[in-house]
Amino acid sequence: MILITGATSGIGEACARAFAASGKDLWLMGRRAERLQSLAAELRTAHRVEVRHTVLDVRDREAFRDLATRESSSLERVETCIVNAGLALGLEPLQEGTSEDWEQMIDTNLKGALWTTELLLPFFTRANRGHFIFMGSVAARWMYARGNVYSATKAALHALAESLRLDLLGSRIRVSTLAPGLVETEFSRVRFKGDEQRAEAVYSGLEPLSPGDVADAALWVATRPEHVTIQELVIYPTAQASPSQVARTPATPPR
Ligand SMILES: NC(=O)c1ccc[n+]([C@@H]2O[C@H](COP(=O)([O-])OP(=O)(O)OC[C@H]3O[C@@H](n4cnc5c(N)ncnc54)[C@H](OP(=O)(O)O)[C@@H]3O)[C@@H](O)[C@H]2O)c1
Repeated sequence: MILITGATSGIGEACARAFAASGKDLWLMGRRAERLQSLAAELRTAHRVEVRHTVLDVRDREAFRDLATRESSSLERVETCIVNAGLALGLEPLQEGTSEDWEQMIDTNLKGALWTTELLLPFFTRANRGHFIFMGSVAARWMYARGNVYSATKAALHALAESLRLDLLGSRIRVSTLAPGLVETEFSRVRFKGDEQRAEAVYSGLEPLSPGDVADAALWVATRPEHVTIQELVIYPTAQASPSQVARTPATPPR
């Protein structure tokens, strides 16, 4: 069974579709109950797989602890956990940002990932198998202006994943991180708090990654033989060279 946090849209939803199409049972999580319900129903019918769903805010550590006690037999069935729930809020210089946005990003992107890891670790350790796939970002490795706290949370997430891989050395548990560049999802709509025009401008004049492109990568990483671990996979659209360097049309080709 594949557990996916942030499965209600974008990359998480695309991962749900890709893994269901490959015949895997799923456990989907997110805050929007209706989206979870309709995606679960659709994937059950289309692929004849089992799809569980749980409405859960990854910032709520108590909810994870309840889950660990109430759902231990299902947690034993999880073979891969895609630690994906996350968001950026705002794109301002640090001196103009708000502490509410910073806290929400830290609580979701870093602490939420930590609580998700804490939930699965005892089950993976007991079974001496399992795979964490963290949704990092190119923003973790290469900073861009005004990315500040979002980049910091993703850098911390990459550090957490790398540390976990070291701590688990000698076990059969795998730890991988995906680091996508621009992916067209609800990400920018959330970042700009519903400002559609500003969100659309992020993807204009270039072909961004689709959520399915990242899901393909996640499926590939998850399906390597057990003795193979992909530590980190960086995936850009061809029209992007770094978080701050994109080629938009119309543009003059470089000489
Ligand atoms: N789009 C990009 O360009 C890009 C690039 C690199 C990395 N990423 C990373 O990819 C991941 C997925 O983002 P996306 O692009 O697919 O954006 P998205 O379409 O906005 O999806 C974000 C997902 O995270 C969930 N989420 C947010 N806060 C949550 C919370 N407190 N508790 C539980 N779930 C929460 C949302 O579900 P609910 O709102 O229903 O809770 C949603 O399913 C994020 O970690 C993001 O940082 C995105």
